[in-house]
Amino acid sequence: MDSSRQREAFSTDVLQAAPYPVAIIGAGALGLSLASRLIRSGPVALVASNADAAQRLRAGVRVGAVVERFDGFAAPRLPRADWVVVVVKAGGTRDALRSALAMRPRGVLSLQNGLLDLEPAGTGTCVAQGVTTMGAFRTDEGVMPVSDGETLMPQGFEPLAALFQQAGLPARIEVAMQAARLAKLLVNVVLNPLTAVFRVRTGELLAAPYMNHVEALVAEAWPVLRAAGLMLEFDEARAKVWSVVRSTADNRTSMLQDVLAGRRTEREAITGAFLRLADGNGAAVPTHRALHTLLGQIDADRC
Ligand SMILES: NC(=O)c1ccc[n+]([C@@H]2O[C@H](COP(=O)([O-])OP(=O)(O)OC[C@H]3O[C@@H](n4cnc5c(N)ncnc54)[C@H](OP(=O)(O)O)[C@@H]3O)[C@@H](O)[C@H]2O)c1
Repeated sequence: MDSSRQREAFSTDVLQAAPYPVAIIGAGALGLSLASRLIRSGPVALVASNADAAQRLRAGVRVGAVVERFDGFAAPRLPRADWVVVVVKAGGTRDALRSALAMRPRGVLSLQNGLLDLEPAGTGTCVAQGVTTMGAFRTDEGVMPVSDGETLMPQGFEPLAALFQQAGLPARIEVAMQAARLAKLLVNVVLNPLTAVFRVRTGELLAAPYMNHVEALVAEAWPVLRAAGLMLEFDEARAKVWSVVRSTADNRTSMLQDVLAGRRTEREAITGAFLRLADGNGAAVPTHRALHTLLGQIDADRC
């Protein structure tokens, strides 16, 4: 922080201070990368999972090559914010949304992966899920941003999109947000479970035997997602998946990173959400179901 603002926030009731233009909930790979960009053009409140972690944010955290100091907060001592971006892992969504709404924002945007059912909780605050192809991963010392990607937000989030743009982050309003979320789910539901279960980098999916699994997963997923509102024909959907495989060939997917780090995966938000869609229209999706079961065993071994 800007120490004058930090003093103000901690010497008075934080909810009485002037609202931050934007707050980010989740100081992990994506949250820190996002915050380090947004602070270039204005104040950003960064909400960590506990007070000690918030203190570490204020002391300084390595993001890429530099150590950044952030306006770190933790529930229940939260500042007001006009817009809140949620970037916690899916399992932390409920608590993060509670914190987000406590900041009395105009809108809350989740940029989490998976298909989340975000309850607006009758507050009148707009709560929605966007999509980002920004990339970052955790390191021993902090986080490493990989790419700015592009962030899509639904209508109503124009001022937040403008804040991203002012910070040099590619962002735009997407009128067909549900279709964009389903296109992201298509990619995630194919790449994440396969790489996580077999512990392979994404580029290994280009060769046998994994390429056949990719084809099977796309063939099963497309009719289900198309019925739910995906605006891609089968050939386009298949080409999109292979294009992401090629362009991220050196990467470890987030689910693989979770497995390797012994963290719980986002299985339910990704494959679980997809299976619920498939169940809804009676589609047989045996390959996805098998991966869901295997991921469940991997997660259970970690609990
Ligand atoms: N990383 C990427 O490149 C990327 C790209 C696109 C989308 N995403 C999605 O973005 C989300 C976040 O991913 P990530 O890679 O940034 O995960 P991450 O590195 O695990 O970071 C999540 C952070 O959220 C914190 N957290 C959990 N519950 C919280 C709460 N109630 N309040 C405040 N903070 C809380 C965690 O703290 P603790 O560690 O203390 O629990 C952790 O620091 C996921 O849904 C992911 O799929 C990630």
